[in-house]
Amino acid sequence: MKQRLAKIKEQIHFHNYRYYVLNEPLIADAQYDELMRELQQLEAAHPDWIVPDSPTQRVGAAPVSAFETVAHSRPMLSLGNVFDQDELFAFDKRVADLLRAEGVLQNQAVAYNAEYKFDGVAVSLRYEHGRLVRGATRGDGVTGEDITSNVRTIASIPLRLQGEPELWPEILEVRGEVLMHRADFEKLNQAQVQRGDKVFVNPRNAAAGSLRQLDPRITAQRPLRFFAYGWGEIRLAGAATLTEPFDTQSAMLDWLRGLGFPVDEHRQVLQGAAALMAFYEQTEQTRAELPYEIDGVVYKVNRLAHQELLGYVARAPRFAVAHKFPAQEMTTTLLGIDVQVGRTGAITPVARLEPVFVGGVTVTNATLHNEDEIRRKDVRVGDTVVVRRAGDVIPEVVAPILDLRPDHTTPFIFPELCPVCGSTIERPIDEAIARCTGGLVCAAQRKQSLEHAVSRKALDVDGLGTKLIEQLVDSGRVKNLADLFELTQLELATYPRMGTKSAGNVVLALQAAKTPSLARFIYALGIRHVGEATAKALAEHLTSLERLVRANEDELLQIDDVGPVVAAEIVNFFAEAHNREVLTQLNTVGVAPQEPEDFRQAQEHTALSGKAVVLTGTLPSLSRTDAQALIEKAGGRVTGSVSKKTDFVVAGSEAGSKLTKAQSLGVTILDEAQFLALLHA
Ligand code: IVH
Repeated sequence: MKQRLAKIKEQIHFHNYRYYVLNEPLIADAQYDELMRELQQLEAAHPDWIVPDSPTQRVGAAPVSAFETVAHSRPMLSLGNVFDQDELFAFDKRVADLLRAEGVLQNQAVAYNAEYKFDGVAVSLRYEHGRLVRGATRGDGVTGEDITSNVRTIASIPLRLQGEPELWPEILEVRGEVLMHRADFEKLNQAQVQRGDKVFVNPRNAAAGSLRQLDPRITAQRPLRFFAYGWGEIRLAGAATLTEPFDTQSAMLDWLRGLGFPVDEHRQVLQGAAALMAFYEQTEQTRAELPYEIDGVVYKVNRLAHQELLGYVARAPRFAVAHKFPAQEMTTTLLGIDVQVGRTGAITPVARLEPVFVGGVTVTNATLHNEDEIRRKDVRVGDTVVVRRAGDVIPEVVAPILDLRPDHTTPFIFPELCPVCGSTIERPIDEAIARCTGGLVCAAQRKQSLEHAVSRKALDVDGLGTKLIEQLVDSGRVKNLADLFELTQLELATYPRMGTKSAGNVVLALQAAKTPSLARFIYALGIRHVGEATAKALAEHLTSLERLVRANEDELLQIDDVGPVVAAEIVNFFAEAHNREVLTQLNTVGVAPQEPEDFRQAQEHTALSGKAVVLTGTLPSLSRTDAQALIEKAGGRVTGSVSKKTDFVVAGSEAGSKLTKAQSLGVTILDEAQFLALLHA
């Protein structure tokens, strides 16, 4: 029995390592759970066999009234920062100069270990004879708080080291970061809302709050994770001194990984500042795809002997530096809350902010999502709020800072009437979004419907931007889509910032947009829930606008992609007298959607139909996507590499090997002008 117990513990221990450190689980979750259950049963039958490093002991010990303080055997330092390329190059030069002065570096570049800078909470974990004996927060760097019972609940922190016990150090202090994955954070916050508990502002705060719980049973329920990036005291046991490679940062991290600690798999050894800069830029591009948040990268001189020579200034090492990303969260004042009306009448509350530099740009507006969100966060005009802008995501108000709330603020009252057209705002019981009921009476909805109709994926009319549409609608000249096609060059030229030439271009673009494919035309109508894919499916199946207009719900439901909600929306759309009038008017002004058969025939008559085209280099005016769209519209296809089957290569500046290959194969090469000429031929 006792042997079985030891065997199961060994297995669980091993599978933890496969899962958390190697990211290569060997068994399914259910099988893992099965092992855990068996262990629990054995231990329940023999309570005296339970030891502190048993995997069952992660559930959380009894609560404490306060944390004890612990002195760190080696101080936990912080890092200096650099924010741009100049500061980074200055750091590298300082390091290189010092190492050269010491005579340990000649002309070569300094080698660094580049790592992610995890955005969580620093902890120190102490292992004696391979067993976790203490976990501590950083505190002031000299003393921290004893959070042993809490760190024991974190599944990715080994309770016992991996590998041959003979190779375990007698004492090992591992330093690293406790954090929470973004998805886990979202889930936790949803649960907090449901329980009526306070929500966390970001994953780091959630990790910090969870780690500093006086009741470890609560910590045990929080999805915390750990990454190791450093160490404190290490005392090796005799034999290991000779066998372990302790000469570089990178080798140390490999060693820690072998002992069972998750380490950053993106770390790289790089030579010189230019390589560090490239690592930074690459990381900034990909950080949004990571499951967790990082707030920069860290560079550490790789050679430990060199680290030692460089030493420390004040509380930070001279051999390492953090290269921070621009902050994604900042605080600012909420000046007001307006509501915006979307194409389908959706009302979005928007925060007007004291301008603030966040995520690399100045932000003055941020979304507040919807009425419930405002209420949940209790955001009020006058509050100091946390604003977040991550990557290309729309900036949002995360939360107010209640401690800074001025006197006499009042909760926001959601409007009952549309601020643009005065129609009532309605919100179906089971929906989060409130809508203006004004439909196309509402100028806001009208403008956005028009914008949608002329957008790239719809009728694709160049030169009809937001501003011009706004002016056309506000002046009363354009009330619906069909009106657009009656505009003349002369008339358009009277609008602000429109020259005769650009007015002419708009008219030409409208002319060209009169024969869209049926799918694009349907999409352009902006029927609710009918996106590009659904529009395509409708066009394929019904093949004519007539049939679509007459289709009833049963017919529509025959089509893949169309469910009851969409079918009802379509039928309602065409039942609306106003919409039918617009369709008639569109027909009168000569807008004629090409039914799939006709469209294919039209495509067959272009110089590019059925041709394979390769794009290479940068074209003077067309982007790659634009060029591709044009080729596909003309019935051609874009391929990635040049071969004998390639019909044309369209080459811009800095075209490389594809151009050379095309020349050697004798494939026709076109510049942008020749390409456009061929398209219009
Ligand atoms: S090294 C002697 N490496 O950043 C250097 N720190 O501002 C000690 N951090 O308190 C830190 N990722 O919480 C180091 N790869 C990494 C890190 C990292 C995150 C945090 C850590 C530290 C803070 C320093």
